[in-house]
Amino acid sequence: PKEKLPLLVSHASRKLEFSTGKMATLSVCQPQLGGFSFENCKRNAVLEAEVTKLGCNIPAARKTGTTICGVVFKDGLVLGADTRATEGMIVADKNCSKIHYISPNIYCCGAGTAADTEMTTQIISSNLELHSLSTSRLPRVATANRMLKQMLFRYQGHIGAALVLGGVDCNGPHLYSIYPHGSTDKLPYVTMGSGSLAAMAVFEDRYKQDMEEEDAKRLVRDAIAAGIFNDLGSGSNIDLCVITKGRVDYLRPHDMANKKGVRTGNYKYKQGTTGVLTKSVIKLDLEVVEETVQTMDTS
Ligand SMILES: *[C@@H]1O[C@H](CO)[C@@H](O)[C@H](O)[C@H]1NC(C)=O
Repeated sequence: PKEKLPLLVSHASRKLEFSTGKMATLSVCQPQLGGFSFENCKRNAVLEAEVTKLGCNIPAARKTGTTICGVVFKDGLVLGADTRATEGMIVADKNCSKIHYISPNIYCCGAGTAADTEMTTQIISSNLELHSLSTSRLPRVATANRMLKQMLFRYQGHIGAALVLGGVDCNGPHLYSIYPHGSTDKLPYVTMGSGSLAAMAVFEDRYKQDMEEEDAKRLVRDAIAAGIFNDLGSGSNIDLCVITKGRVDYLRPHDMANKKGVRTGNYKYKQGTTGVLTKSVIKLDLEVVEETVQTMDTS
C-alpha cells in the first residue's frame, strides 16, 4: 500500500493504512534484518478488534481543516492561507497565522496538526539558519524541501504536517507541496488542506504562465476565499505572502473575506411585555442522597 499513500486525501485514512495494510506479515519472533518493522501493526489490529468487541472505539486520528496554496508568477511567488484553527466542531482560533517563516527568502504554509506544522517549520528554520551562517549564502528552496521531506519521512506520517513551501533563491522562484509522509511535488501552483479542492478548482480555471504580481495576488486571494466559503474547516481572513528577489511582503490580513455583520436592531423586550396572569409556587420535597466535596486546585 505504500505507493498508494500520496493519492489518499484524508489524514485519518492514511493513518489507518498502517493498521489495516497487508504489510503486517512479519513474524514477531524473526530477528530484525533492517528496513521497516510492522510488528506494531499486528498488535494494533488485535487491540482494535478487542476494543471494538467491547463496544468502544479507537480514538480517531485528529484532522484539522485549512486552505493553503501558492502560485508562481513572473518574478516571484505568492503564498496564501486562511486563518481558522479548528478543534473538532469548534473554531479554536479565528485569526491564527499559518504562513511560517523559514529564512529571509523562504516561507512555508502549514496545514494539519497546528503544533506539528509550527514545530516542524521552526526546526527546519533553525537548521537552515546554521547552514546559512556556515556557507554565508541565502539557503535554497530545494535544501529546505529536502530537509523537510527527510524529517517527515523519518517519522512515517506521524507528524501531521502538510506544507506548501515557497521561496526565491539564486535559481529563481520555487514552489513545493510536502505531504505528511514525506512525498513532495514541485509545481507552478499547489494547494493543501481540507479546502485544497475548492482552491485547486480556482487555479485550474484561471492559472496562466508568467502572470503579473497583482493578478497572482488576486488569484491566490480568490483560491483561499473559495476554501473559506466552501469548506467548513476553513474560514475568517486571508493572509498572503509575496516573495520576489530580495523582497518579502507579508500581508496579514490581506483581506477579510467574510466580515461579521453588525446588529442593526434592538431585540430585547422590556420587562413586563408579557403580562403575568397567575402565579403559583410548588415546594419540592427533596432529599439529599449523596453529597461530595470536591477540592479545588489552587496551585
Ligand atoms: C489578526 O492578527 C493580526 C496580527 O497578527 C492583526 O493585525 C489583525 O488585525 C487581526 N485580525 C483580526 C480580525 O483580529
